[in-house]
Amino acid sequence: MRRFLIAGNWKMNCGPADAAELLEGLKEKKAEVAEEVDVLVCPPFVSLSMSVNYLHDTDIEVGAQNIHFEENGAYTGEVSASMLVEAGCNFVIIGHSERREYFGETDTTVNKKAKKALEHNIVPVVCVGESLDQRKANIHFELVKNQVTAAFEGISDTEALDIVIAYEPIWAIGTGETASPEQAQEMHAHIRSILAELYDQETADGIRILYGGSMKPGNAEELLGQEDVDGGLIGGASLSADSFAEIITIAEKLS
Ligand code: 13P
Repeated sequence: MRRFLIAGNWKMNCGPADAAELLEGLKEKKAEVAEEVDVLVCPPFVSLSMSVNYLHDTDIEVGAQNIHFEENGAYTGEVSASMLVEAGCNFVIIGHSERREYFGETDTTVNKKAKKALEHNIVPVVCVGESLDQRKANIHFELVKNQVTAAFEGISDTEALDIVIAYEPIWAIGTGETASPEQAQEMHAHIRSILAELYDQETADGIRILYGGSMKPGNAEELLGQEDVDGGLIGGASLSADSFAEIITIAEKLS
């Protein structure tokens, strides 16, 4: 039986004061609803430590939204894996399309960052997904295959099991437009078949593949109901304790 992971990507929202308010609501609601679902929040760096402290008596995990692939040194503005460990993070989002688009993230840096996170026992949440133009040009399957293959380059099957993939079609992020359940399932099954080719079916089946892109309470049930959708990476709807908790409740019911 799969175990859903419901993850909130807060993006550049919620400094410590807003984070405290959001987590306060979430803490109460999560305790009521979820035992069978893993829950993760990914605040911006400045709110990580307080979020870890705030959630220490819960099973809600805290992750970062980026990491650097070097151990330490002269990389102004960057944050290392050991710093994230020290701050209490167990997860990190890597290669989000916004980082690929605005901050020069590439398949190569995604791979380096995933390896560095694994070295420090941080679970990488590796994001992949196509733009609308790429889907219209019918190269989305090939593009995602290249992204997944590059991200897992040089990673063993046991390490691969510690990685989470998030399929996030760029055209569905923050647009209110969602991939249909069929489109999500089709791509998730494709990603799993790529993993089976890279490793084997058992490993592929053990890697969680989340869907991201305008997931909200109104569409979560049909998306999470798909066979190969193992959870959600949620942006906008994770900024409200009510809507995030509703999605967690839906996942719990489907578990
Ligand atoms: P939205 O849920 O706001 O579309 O964002 C999705 C996302 O980018 C999560 O990483």
